[in-house]
Amino acid sequence: MVTPAKPGPKPRTTPRAAGLAVARPDGSGRPLGSKRPHVNEPPPADHETVHVTLPAPSADGPVPGVALVVLDRPKVLNALDFALIEALTIALEALDADPECRCIVITGAGERAFAAGADIAELAVQTPTTLTVDDHFHRWERIKRVRKPIIAAVRGYALGGGCELAMTCDMIVAGEDAQFGQPEIRLGVMPGAGGTQRLTRAIGKARAMEMILTGRTIGAREAEAHGLVTSVVASEATVPAALELASRIAGMAPVAVIAAKAAVNRAEELSLEAGLEFERRNFYLLFATEDQREGMAAFVEKRAARWKGR
Ligand code: CAA
Repeated sequence: MVTPAKPGPKPRTTPRAAGLAVARPDGSGRPLGSKRPHVNEPPPADHETVHVTLPAPSADGPVPGVALVVLDRPKVLNALDFALIEALTIALEALDADPECRCIVITGAGERAFAAGADIAELAVQTPTTLTVDDHFHRWERIKRVRKPIIAAVRGYALGGGCELAMTCDMIVAGEDAQFGQPEIRLGVMPGAGGTQRLTRAIGKARAMEMILTGRTIGAREAEAHGLVTSVVASEATVPAALELASRIAGMAPVAVIAAKAAVNRAEELSLEAGLEFERRNFYLLFATEDQREGMAAFVEKRAARWKGR
């Protein structure tokens, strides 16, 4: 169990050997989701946790401003047990507070899955009392509150909680081999981490109802046709394409990015009138930033803008 974030030194991501950086809000340097002491070497292959690299590695070198978060339980198709979701929540909150991070990409270890859902072995023994007392599911709301953009890079299965996690992200880049679904009905239950709400908003009631009541999964192309995903790319290009998208976002004015993300998300939650009011207020507020003056001056002077993030 990871110690919850405490007030104290500002969360940082710490460079590690092999370009790996591990975020820990308590500054202890211990890998997230792990009881193993921090060492300057990659974790063993069977290590079950979340890995954070900032800046994200790519074939062209580190991607400035972009963090890569890997869900790493490949033996169980990256099933999301409570410890992994806790580690993920802490990692995302640390990245949200880190000025070096401007956009986040989440993916699953291995080629078979983004995440095949909540960990069924762990869920099987739960009772209403344990679920209520421990309330592990509240972490999903904390993930939604992260202000920086998050892109899910989905290869293979994104089922149940895995599909819900991808939909909690702001965008989904899907590989051709991606499979999305809410199969909980086949386990005698129903989605519990946002599936009934987010899938319905994403693809409409008629399609969501059919998927949720039958447990049918859909492939990347069908997901694209229904508006669930941002783009579909060749399977092996999934993470590079997500990093490229993240890099473009990381190159924009940081305060404007946070304000625009918040406004787009309000479109799903507020009435049109309230959403337009929220948008207008954020638009006016951005005129208090140095980046607004810089961005417009750079356009007039026909040069690239130099963002300050304030
Ligand atoms: N939880 C725990 N373990 C899982 C898992 C999960 N969600 N999904 C896969 N695994 C494990 C399997 O038990 C198996 O482990 P062993 O090798 O020890 O037997 C390993 O991962 C590989 O899986 P399979 O052998 O089953 O691989 P497959 O290719 O035959 O099938 C699959 C792949 C169709 C994804 C299948 O594994 C499957 O149906 N998984 C469950 C999907 C599911 O029902 N997800 C919803 C979970 S509930 C939920 O998410 C609730 C919520 O809203 C939060």
